[in-house]
Amino acid sequence: MSKRVFITGTAGFIGFHLAKLLLAEGFTVLGYDGMSDYYDVNLKKRRTQLLLQNERFSFVEGQLEDNDFLRATIDPFEPDAIVHLAAQAGVRYSLENPRAYIESNVIGTFNIMEAARELAPEHLLMASTSSVYGANDVMPFNEREKTETPMTIYAATKKAGENMGHSYAHLWDIPTTMFRFFTVYGPWGRPDMALFKFTKGILEDTPIDIYNNGDMYRDFTYVEDLVKGIRLLIDTPPKRPETPADIPEGDSLSPVAPFRVVNIGNSDKVRLLDYIDAIETELGKPAIRNYMGMQTGDVPATWANADLLKNLTGYQPSTDIKVGVAKFVAWYRDYYQV
Ligand SMILES: NC(=O)c1ccc[n+]([C@@H]2O[C@H](COP(=O)([O-])OP(=O)(O)OC[C@H]3O[C@@H](n4cnc5c(N)ncnc54)[C@H](O)[C@@H]3O)[C@@H](O)[C@H]2O)c1
Repeated sequence: MSKRVFITGTAGFIGFHLAKLLLAEGFTVLGYDGMSDYYDVNLKKRRTQLLLQNERFSFVEGQLEDNDFLRATIDPFEPDAIVHLAAQAGVRYSLENPRAYIESNVIGTFNIMEAARELAPEHLLMASTSSVYGANDVMPFNEREKTETPMTIYAATKKAGENMGHSYAHLWDIPTTMFRFFTVYGPWGRPDMALFKFTKGILEDTPIDIYNNGDMYRDFTYVEDLVKGIRLLIDTPPKRPETPADIPEGDSLSPVAPFRVVNIGNSDKVRLLDYIDAIETELGKPAIRNYMGMQTGDVPATWANADLLKNLTGYQPSTDIKVGVAKFVAWYRDYYQV
């Protein structure tokens, strides 16, 4: 029988791509998403319509915070795995509307964990972010480093999710994997993220804001690489070690719980100005550049050590930004007919 996966956030960028991949591999998927209006809801509707073309996909619109409704949806589905991606995302918006992050990312994540406690799936996988590395400056970031300097409430709520996940894995024996994603980009991407804003600005001849005068580095991860990593990790639930000797070298496995944290990144840091060059080249048109200072809460660089993902799954994301940007631009032109 086909494996049953409950995914939160399937109307979102990453959830859409993950559901698509799992459906193509024969999984049965139930998607749950509140269709928040943080960005254009039409994009979320279009993603959902596409997924609904597959008969093994079903979708329920609902909020994570509505626990009774969430449970009435997930309980009868009896998932083999739960992948929790729905969240209030975005670093900068967390300065404007911090409450949305507490509600979705703390209360919402707690409700998912409570469901997992009772439903006892084979594996609970939840999204965290490279933002939890905060002010850490030893690069590339590895999962065993301390992450105690979140710079925004977004990062703090995601770190809270990791900590809550650890406690539930320990108390209730729920095999739990937390992913730390690094700046994900690609077709069907988020309108609040750099690639989308830069492409739109260049095509519409409006200035693009370049923070820290472009002296920023990001480990840009192509979305199809990312969801491939997630898919492989679904089959790799952590086991509670019996002794410290059971923890393999370089693994972030908890000494007391079936719980690990895994970076999913390209292991390559790209300068923002080089990323913009790649977009300009692909569009055949220069940007009107508005150089600005560093934004409050932003970090100058992220860079993933992705050895653990490779050791666990044999897989390593590797799409070059030029290839990934070209795929995004092709999608953008087709979708918006420009
Ligand atoms: N895209 C990135 O670069 C990136 C980087 C690091 C971490 N992440 C994490 O990956 C996950 C997916 O991100 P994304 O880029 O696909 O974002 P997204 O905003 O496109 O998708 C998130 C989805 O969650 C839904 N949602 C939000 N709050 C909800 C709530 N309270 N109840 C029900 N649904 C709700 C939204 O409607 C949206 O469709 C998030 O947890 C995010 O924090 C993303």
